[in-house]
Amino acid sequence: MIGVFDSGYGGLTILRQMRQLLPQYDYLYLGDNARAPYGSHSFEVIYKYTLQAVEELFRRGCPLVILACNTASAKALRTIQERDIPHIDPSRRVLGVIRPTVEAVGPLTHTRHVGLLATAGTVNSGSYSMELRKLWPDIQVTGQACPMWVPLVENYEFDSPGADYFVKKRVEGIMRLDPDIDTLILGCTHYPLLMNKIVKYTPPGVRIVAQGEYVAQSLASYLQRHPDMEARLTQHGTCHYLTTESADKFEQSAALFMHEMVKAEHVELAAGC
Ligand code: DGL
Repeated sequence: MIGVFDSGYGGLTILRQMRQLLPQYDYLYLGDNARAPYGSHSFEVIYKYTLQAVEELFRRGCPLVILACNTASAKALRTIQERDIPHIDPSRRVLGVIRPTVEAVGPLTHTRHVGLLATAGTVNSGSYSMELRKLWPDIQVTGQACPMWVPLVENYEFDSPGADYFVKKRVEGIMRLDPDIDTLILGCTHYPLLMNKIVKYTPPGVRIVAQGEYVAQSLASYLQRHPDMEARLTQHGTCHYLTTESADKFEQSAALFMHEMVKAEHVELAAGC
């Protein structure tokens, strides 16, 4: 199975696109809903939680895990790849969502002014600025943390009138910081669920980049370039779900996000495992 991890429901926006592009594979999704949001936690906490999730997905038979969470990708991916995988099992792989997004953004912006809407953890990590500098040094990036957006999604308030206030505040805020922005990266996998509101407050002509399709394309290209990994993936087109919250609660919300019935299993991620 391909393991897909997020702090909560946001990774479902990535999973949906992966299943659309690569429906033949089996997927195992893990949402750490009981401990979401991750955005304002310290590096140590995010790293510990993410490693526990990756180990659980490995234990359940995933040779490949996608961190469908920018905060985990920004704060934990490098350490897990460099320090932990060699000890756990060097034949397994963990990939993130930041690099594929940055690769996609270069050809999309004309003004070369890009905005990043993300959690405080992702913005403050500087991961997007660093990756953009490496690939597209002429691009100027402005970050804006949106601390209320993930709680709105996790609490199923993304369509409520209350959400308008928080979305308007941050979108107008980033456009004030740099009015030349022509491309806004949704650098948090929860944010596509607020898309209607984000579109409403984004000036016309500014492109909104959601990550799902780029991450899915990047996974397809990775599997083409790594036939050894591809051969280890089972292909029955199934999708299973794990959550650290109650399975019932997850099933109800995830079904709305995935537009299909979802069967989930509760899992405990043991501290210090
Ligand atoms: N979906 C996660 C991300 O992409 C949200 C992080 C959080 O839980 O705050 O960053």
